[in-house]
Amino acid sequence: MCGIFAYLNYNVSRERRYILEMLFNGLRRLEYRGYDSAGISIDSDEHGPLVFRQEGNIESLVKSVYQEVATTDLNLEESFSIHAGIAHTRWATHGEPAPRNSHPQTSDPGNEFLVVHNGVVTNYEVLKESLVRHGFTFQSDTDTEVIPKLAKFVFDNANEEGDKRVTFSQVVLEVMRHLEGAYALIFKSRHYPNELVACKRGSPLLLGVKELNEKASTGACFNDAKFLSSNGQPKELFLSSDASALVEHTKKVLVIEDGEVVHVKDGGATIFKFDPAKRGGTLTRPASVERALSVLEMEVEQINKGKYEHYMQKEIHEQPDSLTTTMRGRLIRGGSCKAKSVLLGGLKDHLKTIRRSRRIVFIGCGTSYNAALAARPILEELSGIPVTLEIASDLLDRQGPIYREDTTVFVSQSGETADTLQALEYALENGALCVGITNTVGSAIARTTHCGVHINAGCEIGVASTKAYTSQIVVMAMLALAIGDDTISSQTRREAIIDGLFDLPSKLKEVLKLDEEMKDLARLLIAEQSLLVFGRGYNYATALEGALKVKEVALMHSEGILAGEMKHGPLALVDETLPIVVVATRDACFSKQQSVIHQLHARKGRLIVMCTKGDAASVCVGGSCRVIEVPQVEDCLQPVINIVPLQLLAYHLTVLRGHNVDQPRNLAKSVTTQ
Ligand code: F6R
Repeated sequence: MCGIFAYLNYNVSRERRYILEMLFNGLRRLEYRGYDSAGISIDSDEHGPLVFRQEGNIESLVKSVYQEVATTDLNLEESFSIHAGIAHTRWATHGEPAPRNSHPQTSDPGNEFLVVHNGVVTNYEVLKESLVRHGFTFQSDTDTEVIPKLAKFVFDNANEEGDKRVTFSQVVLEVMRHLEGAYALIFKSRHYPNELVACKRGSPLLLGVKELNEKASTGACFNDAKFLSSNGQPKELFLSSDASALVEHTKKVLVIEDGEVVHVKDGGATIFKFDPAKRGGTLTRPASVERALSVLEMEVEQINKGKYEHYMQKEIHEQPDSLTTTMRGRLIRGGSCKAKSVLLGGLKDHLKTIRRSRRIVFIGCGTSYNAALAARPILEELSGIPVTLEIASDLLDRQGPIYREDTTVFVSQSGETADTLQALEYALENGALCVGITNTVGSAIARTTHCGVHINAGCEIGVASTKAYTSQIVVMAMLALAIGDDTISSQTRREAIIDGLFDLPSKLKEVLKLDEEMKDLARLLIAEQSLLVFGRGYNYATALEGALKVKEVALMHSEGILAGEMKHGPLALVDETLPIVVVATRDACFSKQQSVIHQLHARKGRLIVMCTKGDAASVCVGGSCRVIEVPQVEDCLQPVINIVPLQLLAYHLTVLRGHNVDQPRNLAKSVTTQ
């Protein structure tokens, strides 16, 4: 839920101001992960690490740091040939947003050990009690504070036992022995100046390496060992919760795995594997492990807003491109003797097992759940297998049945969502085949599932999911096509859908032309308290997702309603004031939606009808409603088109109402706590 970042310059002179800006920029890139408080630690000249923490967003921290520095004798132009700084942006879980609850959390007033943390330590109360018994006093309400204190405890004990040579990574390995829960941690210490130790379990963490010697870093390929070794070459090393804070500096990264401890020292990085079986309290010296660097595929442009004012706006408008990338290399055009088909490389060895499943169970949260809801009808139709949907937290609350014969599909943009990840562990325990559909290569869900499909939508930074939703639907439609590929009777239908997929980016461009119209509509609705969205069939998901967008960014109450349920309660709300969007595009449910419109009209409902281009006259009873006309595509792909005007409406409503589009109140991009 939080973002952690570190910057270490080695054998290259960097001014204090430069180091601060590196840390601030790292945090700006990670701000979407949490934005209620932030903090950093850098070195002072003689007094060891300094800590700055501030409630509010990154810019509040930046302002307060420069203000505070101005009142001290810290020289911003002073240079360091080696320096290790750490930084954190927070989404509060334990303890209100306040400086004392912000990170870095410290072991003591002298900052012997400092920690930035993403995740939750679930056994922190027990650890805290024990540390209090050993004389520690706590300043914050966080779960994190036990970690630096544990580090100090381990360090002091080792020194008492005469083990003066205890290394920083040994201290951290010993701390990990006591921690339960999920975490990515970066440690800094007064006892180990210019060193950093990072470790992780559950939460994501990457190491980025930038060799500054031009000659050493050019060449067709690079030597992994050289980039990780302490070879004396000037380097910059980075640690980050995700790639978005690294890509502008380097593409050479190490995706740190669960249980790994990375010790950054003397310009090199040594990796150790935490072994939970080694118990007993003595500090062991594990052997280091070899790990290869990988090359990030992300481009800097992906993480900039470009010509747009907000990330959400950019991500809505880039959907024609993100969908093209999602489908690239996966749709086979066919030919005279070859049928059109779909190729999902990550699933090819598992399709037979999926076809033999007793059920396919889709599991996700929020928008990812809605995407599975949109794709369910086509999955049922083409696979002939019962398809059920589970909200991850609900499955866990009920401990719902999952069988060995089930295929479970985990849908998650971030690949990090705690509920979905825990449901995945539950499905693995129950012996089901686990498939991942995520947007984050190397994420926990991508790594833990047996197989999967990457949606390739590109980095999504706006907290409200937009382009990931449409790419998820497309991936699930392709999954339905791949599963049904052995059924001759549905071949014509499958080919029509494949043609529809090829056309989808151009139809998306067409629907995006509604931007101004949606802005007008937003002006009309700006002061409303509530908005209902009615849908059914393929577009029940559109109703839920449209309402979710309006509610989460525009902070306006909005509810997606299954139109078939209208007479069983929601009709009571209808009057001439409450605005209602009815999704009534052409598909098998069209005539039923026409009847819904008639009934709403009869009760003087204030209607906004979304219909297929050319249908305005047939849907607008009495000519009194407002109409949003969208291009028609294959029925199962229509939700991809229909959500776009509602995304635009939510976007414009938010801007007009003066709310923060990219960082809605109380929300964070990846929900890594339950
Ligand atoms: C809404 C939104 C959330 C996420 C949900 C699951 O716009 O973004 O509802 O969809 O938190 O997140 P992922 O897909 O990362 O598992």
